[in-house]
Amino acid sequence: MGFISDALNRIQPSATIAISNKALAMQAEGQNVIGLAAGEPDFETPRNIKDAAIKAINDGKTRYTAVDGIPQLKQAVVDKFKRENGLTYKTSQVSVGTGGKQVLFNALLATVNPGDEVIVPAPYWVSYPDIVMLAGGTPVIVQCPAAKGFKLQAADLEKAITPKTKWLILNSPSNPTGAAYSHADMKAITDVLVKHPHVYLLTDDMYEHLVYDDFKFVTPAQVEPKLYDRTLTMNGVSKAYCMTGWRIGYAAGPEALIKAMGKLQSQSTSNPSSIAQWAAVEALNGPQDFIPAHNKIFKERRDLVVSMLNQAKGLKCATPEGAFYVYPSCEGTLGKTAPSGKVIKTDEDFVSELLAAEGVAAVHGAAFGTSPFFRISYATATTTLEDACQRIQRFCASLK
Ligand SMILES: Cc1ncc(COP(=O)(O)O)c(C=O)c1O
Repeated sequence: MGFISDALNRIQPSATIAISNKALAMQAEGQNVIGLAAGEPDFETPRNIKDAAIKAINDGKTRYTAVDGIPQLKQAVVDKFKRENGLTYKTSQVSVGTGGKQVLFNALLATVNPGDEVIVPAPYWVSYPDIVMLAGGTPVIVQCPAAKGFKLQAADLEKAITPKTKWLILNSPSNPTGAAYSHADMKAITDVLVKHPHVYLLTDDMYEHLVYDDFKFVTPAQVEPKLYDRTLTMNGVSKAYCMTGWRIGYAAGPEALIKAMGKLQSQSTSNPSSIAQWAAVEALNGPQDFIPAHNKIFKERRDLVVSMLNQAKGLKCATPEGAFYVYPSCEGTLGKTAPSGKVIKTDEDFVSELLAAEGVAAVHGAAFGTSPFFRISYATATTTLEDACQRIQRFCASLK
């Protein structure tokens, strides 16, 4: 339609949100549907965080704030980076936005010119390429093979860098694969970047706290201090603190970039919710003991799902280091016929036939740039996951 801008016509609606909405609509019609498409913890926001928000309301903290965050939250972010990542920032190097998504959006819109290239390792979080395209840039997709744990390989990164490369976006632990970079994995990547001083690094550390089996999380500016001046370290409270609906994300990096991001935010949303910001102060400064308690449950669910999926005919599922996703291959089901009579040709066919036959909603790998796979979020009750995996096994067994 001619009325819609070229910039908007370059992008797609978020596939994960579309599938979650479809599952919700089927549930509302009374169908027995299990939604494994949404990327959010099923746990409640901890009590102390809710109380901090209630107190903020009662104390009248209900007005506009500084555009990119109240000083108390910026200080809590500075303290978090020091305490957990050994990174030193000033509050003038911190930006707070309405979710991690806005922070990423601001960073890319504030820096990407038409013709600029942004390297996006695949499988990727659905929004990266679209935000780059909205900004007029070109996403350069680099495949990270399953055989290499879905992690970017140094040689592949080296090949993808051109004089036009502006950013590399890294995401560890990853949505959609759960793959996380060890110190050695990360060092291999940062060694390449050190050789290319024109490339900036946007690291999306949203799932930092969700790692299992004693895996040690690292962030690139900590692994390679030489990259500190050209790294934007992004994080947020949505996942680890069970605050997806509160909409608070943040990043720290070079002051000039932070200032540019604030300028953009001043002409779009202004400050994130004042109440949510006070809740986030409590999240970062308050007790952290619920995180290992949640992780124990997530790990049990991960192990259950991996084991049950590997028992499904035609599926193959690796055990990821973190996040709350698994990314099984459905290659062994391609060419087979579903109960509806339709031949499964792609991962998109696989997930739509699975939804039709057994009422399990998952997201096709094509949405994340790597086929033939699909993503399952295991951030849902263990008994529900068992039921879902039994349905998947039954569906795979029914294919002819
Ligand atoms: C990798 C990744 N980055 C960023 C975000 C955005 O987080 P938020 O909900 O804080 O905007 C998500 C949420 O799904 C994510 O999975």
